Amino acid sequence: MSKENSALRHGSIPDDWTKPIVDPTAFAEEQRRMASVWTFLGMTSDVEKDGDWFRASIATRSVFVQRFGTDLRGFENVCAHRFMPLRNAERGNGPIVCGFHHWTYDRQGSAVGIPRCRELYDALPQELGARLARIELATCGRMIFGRFPHPSASESLEDFLGIGFGILAAGSQAQLKPHYLRIAFQANWRLSAQIGLDDYHSPAVHPRTFGRYGYIRRQDISYYRFGLHSAYLYTSKPEGLEQVAQACRDGTYYPNCYTILQLVPTASMAFFRTDLDNYHCVVLVYEPVRHDRTIVRAWAYPAPFPGRRSWARTLSDPVRASIVKHYVKMVLGEDNLACERIQGIAHQIGRPPMLGRLEERIGWFEDSYRKLMAAREGD
Ligand code: FES
Ligand SMILES: [Fe+2]
Repeated sequence: MSKENSALRHGSIPDDWTKPIVDPTAFAEEQRRMASVWTFLGMTSDVEKDGDWFRASIATRSVFVQRFGTDLRGFENVCAHRFMPLRNAERGNGPIVCGFHHWTYDRQGSAVGIPRCRELYDALPQELGARLARIELATCGRMIFGRFPHPSASESLEDFLGIGFGILAAGSQAQLKPHYLRIAFQANWRLSAQIGLDDYHSPAVHPRTFGRYGYIRRQDISYYRFGLHSAYLYTSKPEGLEQVAQACRDGTYYPNCYTILQLVPTASMAFFRTDLDNYHCVVLVYEPVRHDRTIVRAWAYPAPFPGRRSWARTLSDPVRASIVKHYVKMVLGEDNLACERIQGIAHQIGRPPMLGRLEERIGWFEDSYRKLMAAREGD
């Protein structure tokens, strides 16, 4: 490997790249800088009916998204009174009423119902001006993204996702209610991001689940970089991603090879063949919890593209969907275990990894990560 090639793949990963992985203070600073980056939160199918809500997190901060008629609103999940989380389950339906002293909030996040307000505060609720912290929301098809407002965070979600926007929008149109998974594990989110971009580890880590399909030759696949993000297509055609984007625009897309789009910082969408001509879609997000703890959430559903949908497929999709859920759980379990093992010795790491040709996108990801960190330095 020539020095230039090696540098290309490694980007310029510093010796101390694991600092936020081992040091809670560095992790907290990293997450503070991530709070204003568009973060995938959930699917509109999680908030279909008026009053539906779900909980998620942006850079370790608990948030919730709620439907009010045709509007989606997002708030930090912290009561303005004495900071009780308002939503204490994964999802539900109903008005925003705090479980501590029954303060009630409207769709603007203003406290409009405060028990005994005059007696205790000498004021009407609207005079107190108590409100929840709003988060900015944007959708891409049925995917909901959010970020905390920041004076220098003005980029639209569409610009942030670039060529990926139309593909993600088309891929998100699930026709069956997605199967949902949530798994906690004891490793840093960035180790998970890296393993998701690693096309080298399957024979060692996934022999049970991927078998011979995990052995990949670099010349058979194509990598793409778009904005801060990257994609992988199991095709040797270098124009593959543009073709997918065009077909999605035309409404004619149907996957014909394994395809994955990985979004910085924490989400991905993959299309993979299950059997015959049938493809499935899995959307994943890694939620950082602590420097050494992460929650992965996943939505799996039959690939929603029109064309080639036979009645037999429609009948068999629910069965296929349950099998895929089981399979995704096993694959994630294998990846999470590998990450937990690295987490255990992360304090011993003092140099960049030796990235080979099938790990090139890890270098890209680390490069994007450093750009995001640098953009919020000194804020
Ligand atoms: S903390 Fe929410 S009403 Fe008191
Ligand atoms: Fe893996």
